[in-house]
Amino acid sequence: MSHPKLEDRARTFVSYVQELRAQQKYPYFRPISRSWGTEVEVAGRRLIMIGSNDYLGLSHDPRVIAAATQAMRRWGSGPGGSRFLCGNMTLHEELEEKLAAFVGKKKAVVHVTGFSTNLGAIASLLTPHDLILCDRENHASIFEGCKASRAQVVPFVHNDVGSAARNLAKARQKNPQGLPVLITEGVFSMSGDVAPLPEIVRLKKSHPELLIYLDDAHGLGVMGPGGRGTAAHFGVTDQVDFIMGTFSKALASIGGFLASDDSEVLEYVRHHSKTLIFSAAQPACNAATVLACLEVMEQEPERLDRLWEITRRARQAYREIGLVSGNSSSPIIPIFIGEEEKAFVVAQELFDLGIFALPAVFPAVPRRQAVIRTAFMSTHTDRQVERVLECLEKVARKHRLHQTDQAIVPFFREADSRSLAASPDTTPAGAGK
Ligand SMILES: Cc1ncc(COP(=O)(O)O)c(C=O)c1O
Repeated sequence: MSHPKLEDRARTFVSYVQELRAQQKYPYFRPISRSWGTEVEVAGRRLIMIGSNDYLGLSHDPRVIAAATQAMRRWGSGPGGSRFLCGNMTLHEELEEKLAAFVGKKKAVVHVTGFSTNLGAIASLLTPHDLILCDRENHASIFEGCKASRAQVVPFVHNDVGSAARNLAKARQKNPQGLPVLITEGVFSMSGDVAPLPEIVRLKKSHPELLIYLDDAHGLGVMGPGGRGTAAHFGVTDQVDFIMGTFSKALASIGGFLASDDSEVLEYVRHHSKTLIFSAAQPACNAATVLACLEVMEQEPERLDRLWEITRRARQAYREIGLVSGNSSSPIIPIFIGEEEKAFVVAQELFDLGIFALPAVFPAVPRRQAVIRTAFMSTHTDRQVERVLECLEKVARKHRLHQTDQAIVPFFREADSRSLAASPDTTPAGAGK
């Protein structure tokens, strides 16, 4: 029997979920019975997927599946332990070498997920004496890593380097000894915004001790030459100290890594990251998947071109329909809705029309700034894209999405971000993401 306090905690939330389900508005945990990549089957219906992070459509590539199957035959289905003990495979080491070369760093350390990479790496690199400058819209795994490190977290206004500089200067005055690290995503997972990395690395001029940690979960495979990521896109790889990536997006697998030119520091992380030492290793099939994806990406650069072609087409169509999509300059194109319940209704109507799209609500985005987060894949056909756009137009007209007032969309507005910089509000917005 559970404790009454726990029951109280759960009751209000669960009754809200039940109410949404009863009204056919609940959009999450939809059981997918089959996937073809760009299409999925739910309750016997086939829908076009525009919510996936499988940007290059590699999760169904026959070469990738063959590599994964072969690795499973050779190493088995599970690792049988953590990498520290008996789960370290030659495949992991090969993968680390290839990843480091791919992002332009000397070494890499693979973890079992991206979340556990951020959690384990940030917590092992930093101590309670240190300072972390954190973009307010950073991913939950970054905030969890910051919490676990017990370093002082100094959030700055999203993508606002001026805010970061001011907060850094103030924090350094109070704590001149602590190691300062700035953590940002390369491509932000909800807004699709790209971090102003050239400006960020310029902070090192006035603060040479500042380290830059880049979470490039959504930039990897998508940004830069050959999909080498956001640092490569801006040509600042040398000035970014740590590049973190996950395999759960364009690399069509599960796992994560931290790359750096400092081999000693990575060796230290390898022995101190609790999520690496005390968690089972990435299964062989997942490591082999990533290796195969890297090969396909090299052989078929046209996949990336196609992703950007579709993205440009969709972005232009969204503008013509009158949808509000903010400053996204990546394949993640959010559609601003506002009220959470309205986002649920819009997602349900799209679902009824055969489109699998997901609403992002608090805490993934600020309260009452819900979006439908859309992302196309390079394997979507023109016909699929046209069908999605037709459905979006229909739903947009019905819900007057074109009349969304840009003025009430602070999530997307530069000016609003700037004014926040002057306010004393330093609550990490992504803290609960
Ligand atoms: C920016 C960012 N970092 C880290 C993660 C965690 O990655 P994973 O799914 O591999 O745990 C995600 C995934 O949602 C993400 O979007």
